[in-house]
Amino acid sequence: PFTPMLDPDSDNVADNFAFAFDIDGVLVRGGKPIPEATEAMKVLNGENEYGIKVPYIFLTNGGGKFESERCADLSRQLDMTVSEGQFICGHTPMRELSSRYRDCPVLVVGGEGETCRLVAESYGFHDVITPGDILKANASTAPFRRLTPAEHAASRDLLSSRRRRRRPEVRKLSDIVISAVFVFADSRDWASDLQIILDIAQSRGGRLETRSETFDEGPPIYFSHSDVVWSAAHEHVRLGMGALRKMVETVFEETTGGKKLVTHAFGKPQVGTFEFAERLLRQWRAEKHGLGLGTLHGRSQAPAVRTVYFVGDTPESDIKGTNAMDEKSGREGTEWYSILVKTGVYQEGTEPRYRPRKLVGNVLDAVHHGIRREM
Ligand code: G3P
Ligand code: MG
Repeated sequence: PFTPMLDPDSDNVADNFAFAFDIDGVLVRGGKPIPEATEAMKVLNGENEYGIKVPYIFLTNGGGKFESERCADLSRQLDMTVSEGQFICGHTPMRELSSRYRDCPVLVVGGEGETCRLVAESYGFHDVITPGDILKANASTAPFRRLTPAEHAASRDLLSSRRRRRRPEVRKLSDIVISAVFVFADSRDWASDLQIILDIAQSRGGRLETRSETFDEGPPIYFSHSDVVWSAAHEHVRLGMGALRKMVETVFEETTGGKKLVTHAFGKPQVGTFEFAERLLRQWRAEKHGLGLGTLHGRSQAPAVRTVYFVGDTPESDIKGTNAMDEKSGREGTEWYSILVKTGVYQEGTEPRYRPRKLVGNVLDAVHHGIRREM
């Protein structure tokens, strides 16, 4: 049963359960809020028959912007304040890899204009190269792609003879060795991005414009998520980054005489992403609601929440990941309870590939179900 506690604002806060929300297809669709979403947030913010506030975070596979911008978008869409401390997008966990690749050239793919380069630099990657930079240095890389004058001006001059501090001089593209590829957000030009990712995957150890004889020495390739489809404004689901990932792997195999390419994905349904979310939730409950700030035997206590209700629309990422996290947590750990809504990828009347604990119409029904189950 629910035990209310007093938060710093003297409000009742649920101290043993919380919610986590997927965004596209649950709260927002094609940039517009799903009608019940605003009401659902109000219920969690205390407008319910018990007068309790319930902590919550957001966990989207989307990205392509600074987390602060995504929070500002969501705040506008839901008519409330969403803080960075309660928000994770697909590429957020890539931040943790920046120390490994700090001064190494990395290829960053996807998103509008230069935004993902700036996001990657803010994560601590110091030598970010984009497909646009490569096309600027060698336009024949992708025969049917021409940079616009604005793209040309914004792209980095990789062949500049100016010696950068701590970096060797670059006279030709083959002087550059890419250490890792990060697909941060959806590609805006699949053909040229596919070509450039494959070129690097088939290179000699990441060295641009070279070909490996063995096709097994390319650098690691990370995608910020693996959703093949997602729920946007169109009545039918749209292709997502997972489709590009499948193309990269399939065409690699096709063009190397059957060699397999193993790529890596962040985002849901990876259990690591849910573990990241659990850490964020623990921090958010402490910072926002003062939960878990007590001390026992002189040591600060930050107890894990007992149940997290995860509300999603995509069985293959949201439900699969939540169920896997629940299984991994075991009896002692946090219960991760999956709720599937019908406002996005999942289509009513079909059999979801991964079964949720509860199937409901929309996000408001999901919130009511979770609260009722606790009371
Ligand atoms: O590109 C974003 C999409 O694949 C899914 O976003 O919020 O449903 O995890 P979301
Ligand atoms: Mg979704």
